[in-house]
Amino acid sequence: MTVRIPDGLLVLETKADVKVWRQAQRAAGHTIGFVPTMGYLHEGHLSLIRMATERSEVVLASIFVNPTQFAPNEDLDAYPRDIEGDLRKARSAGCAAVFLPSVSEMYSEDAQTSIHAGALAKGLCGESRPSHFSGVCTVVAKLLNIVGCDLAVFGQKDYQQLAIIRRMVQDLDIPVEILAGPIVRESDGLALSSRNAYLSKEHRREALSLSEGLAQARSAWQKGERSAGTLRQAVADVIKTRPSAEIDYIQVVDAVSLEPIEVDCAGDALIALAVRFGATRLIDNTVLEV
Ligand code: PAF
Repeated sequence: MTVRIPDGLLVLETKADVKVWRQAQRAAGHTIGFVPTMGYLHEGHLSLIRMATERSEVVLASIFVNPTQFAPNEDLDAYPRDIEGDLRKARSAGCAAVFLPSVSEMYSEDAQTSIHAGALAKGLCGESRPSHFSGVCTVVAKLLNIVGCDLAVFGQKDYQQLAIIRRMVQDLDIPVEILAGPIVRESDGLALSSRNAYLSKEHRREALSLSEGLAQARSAWQKGERSAGTLRQAVADVIKTRPSAEIDYIQVVDAVSLEPIEVDCAGDALIALAVRFGATRLIDNTVLEV
């Protein structure tokens, strides 16, 4: 069903609704930008929507908490949701339409096909979340097919996800341009994430160590430090001072292949990390360019 909410935003609930909308946009000669999200929108998502509006004539965002990218022990049921707020924010950032499908609209019970994410999905978050990126690739491929957009925008906070999606689009010849939006941070450095909503005051304060640690490493890099071990240690030294921080990983990897750098960084490097504060697992990263 298509619902038009008072300020003009179209809320499309089925694939058929999106098809009708897309055909109308194409008939009007519009290029289409797409921003896939799992909702609970924050300034990071809104910056992606704004970026899409600068590069295309109409923008559609999707809000879908995708069950196939959560393992049974993860936070699917607790994932924060605020549909009313999301629709308001999406509209104010420039969306013309939002795709808001149900799980049964996206996945038929007898579905047999999924996308296998390859080598880029093995390390970093893939190590502790082995099925996660296949779930992401499957839903993103489906969404790109449903929306039929010219470009889609993803955030660089999920650097590994972005690299895997670029690779999938290349490998499967999906006719879409992928754009990357920079990480958006609070004024004190915390990278925006829907999961920040879970943090207690104390954990939020301790979570500032992620951006502080990355900043230490970045400053060492700027002074000429190239040892992957030293850069990694600079981040770990800051995070380890916070009593509740449980490090899942801190890694220095090649910014393109995502392969760990064993000794010295020769080209662009990525420092990526995942750290738990209580039950909340946060990720962050910084790209160190030569
Ligand atoms: O980054 C996210 O919010 C999700 O992984 C995505 C890309 C919307 C797929 O569900």
